[in-house]
Amino acid sequence: MHHLVLKVGPYSVTFYISDRLHEDFFHLAKTHGPLFSLCLGQKPAIVISSPEVAREYLTSSKFSSRAITEVARYLAFDASTVVFGPYGARWRLLRKIMNTEVFSARAIELLQPGRAQKIGGKEELRRYKEQPVRFLDFLLDNKSDKEEDVLKQLSKFDIKGLLAISLAFTLEVLAELDDVVGKNKFVEETDIPKLIYFQAVIKEVFRLHPGVPLNIPRSSDEPCDIYGYHVPKNTIVFVNIWGITRDPKIWTDPYVFKPERFIGNDMDVKGQNFEILPFGAGRRSYVGMP
Ligand code: HEM
Repeated sequence: MHHLVLKVGPYSVTFYISDRLHEDFFHLAKTHGPLFSLCLGQKPAIVISSPEVAREYLTSSKFSSRAITEVARYLAFDASTVVFGPYGARWRLLRKIMNTEVFSARAIELLQPGRAQKIGGKEELRRYKEQPVRFLDFLLDNKSDKEEDVLKQLSKFDIKGLLAISLAFTLEVLAELDDVVGKNKFVEETDIPKLIYFQAVIKEVFRLHPGVPLNIPRSSDEPCDIYGYHVPKNTIVFVNIWGITRDPKIWTDPYVFKPERFIGNDMDVKGQNFEILPFGAGRRSYVGMP
């Protein structure tokens, strides 16, 4: 669905965007590079699509406020929440409250019993392992008749192939769980650091399917220079989190689900490695990040 017109500087090309803005920006970056500017209606914006530029921008204190749109005002109490509030005393206070009351070691410990109940997912995985054929039947029986449903376009053969692959990853995780946690035991939080393959699977999911594909947009608090370009005050800044993890210059076989790429190295998702930023980085990164 096309519904907006942008202008890409310095050429002033007018084009339409879809409802998958991260994909549009990803394709535009192939032509216009890792830092390009555009006008979103009347508003100047820049789009960042490489780890080097992301590092320079996300670690700069000049981009500590959010870009406030009408949607943000509508959804977030006139943009007064910790997510959208401007950088300043009130934001610092709200963030401090979250850090001490929600994400502190004490608060996390208090909520441990609730999390322990949820973590019993191992049993669900085991059911899945024992009944792959029934799961396949279930998938096939529930093929939708809707024209737009992707399952309709998949043959039985495709579905079996997809299942075999996902089953292989599941079996590998289960083998590790049996090995590290022990058979017929519940996973404890203290087991997680030892579950190397499981952690790699989670990171790979974040790489290919980040929950926030375009960083919650920030805004320049003052005019500044970044990556050799001048950025005026109040420019909207997007980081294409989704696009960076699909760049073949950065990732080998970027479209392949390969948890092994995270094994044997320190690559993490906590904002230190700018090749993978599912929680952002720097001053306005996800508040619960250690
Ligand atoms: C998998 C789940 C989540 C993902 C992928 C995620 C991702 C993100 C991202 C990308 C940002 C923007 C970072 C930046 O600008 O550099 C962010 C900010 C934020 N997240 Fe999350 N988040 C998740 C869960 C949560 C949860 C559970 C909470 C609260 C209970 C939360 C609270 C916040 C807050 C308060 C901010 C704004 C911080 C600020 O502007 O100072 N997030 N998150």
